[in-house]
Amino acid sequence: MKKMVVFNWKMNPGSKNEAKRLAEAVREAKKNSNFKVVICPPFVYLENLIKEFKEIEFGAQNCFWEEKGSFTGEISCKMLKNLGARFVILGHSERRRYFKETNEEIAKKTMSVIENKLIPIFCIGETLEERKKNLTKKVLKNQLLSSLKEVFNLKFKNFRLIVAYEPIWAIGIGRTCKVEDALETICYLKKILLDFLPLSSLLFFYGGSINSKNIFLFLKEKEIDGVLVGRASLKEKEIISMLS
Ligand code: 13P
Repeated sequence: MKKMVVFNWKMNPGSKNEAKRLAEAVREAKKNSNFKVVICPPFVYLENLIKEFKEIEFGAQNCFWEEKGSFTGEISCKMLKNLGARFVILGHSERRRYFKETNEEIAKKTMSVIENKLIPIFCIGETLEERKKNLTKKVLKNQLLSSLKEVFNLKFKNFRLIVAYEPIWAIGIGRTCKVEDALETICYLKKILLDFLPLSSLLFFYGGSINSKNIFLFLKEKEIDGVLVGRASLKEKEIISMLS
């Protein structure tokens, strides 16, 4: 299976034209690439990009768990599915931090994503403080188990779950996690999850300061199925180098 590169544009770029320009760079770079590429743009660009860039796959950066109704400002999985999105990033540390998303809310979103036959990119990660206190494994295990209980109980198992290990201390500041540390953590997460889900349902990603200089170090590892890229996915030169 092809390794995956997911571009999380976060709240960027500032205009529809810029978004189109970046997607064009992805389309060009993708022609010579062995990786499967997914772009997760802000909601407002999603429909146009999906229509215009048929050779690229798209995802959302968030969703709400109800299908429709009086939930001002929210977007449902069904709406995303109808647009043609395939993935939804969930539980990103920026959503946990700035919007106070809880494990319980992320659990409901994850169920809704799976029930709508979309693929969750379920993010977990520890803070630097937690890491220093040697709490990494405990924190990650808690994030996994408290948000995925219902998923473990699903009768059907023919869904995909992407678990993205994104150490918070490595996001947005250019400090990457060592590949061996990411690997150790991913193996730990895999061991926990295999008690509940078949290996065929699971993919494991790393995210945090990935760029053209380090992407291959992560993607060459057998245990790492893909990466999530933030800042570097907004620079055309980086896009080209990362996908080449
Ligand atoms: P950066 O690549 O900017 O560190 O962001 C990573 C991230 O949050 C991907 O979801």
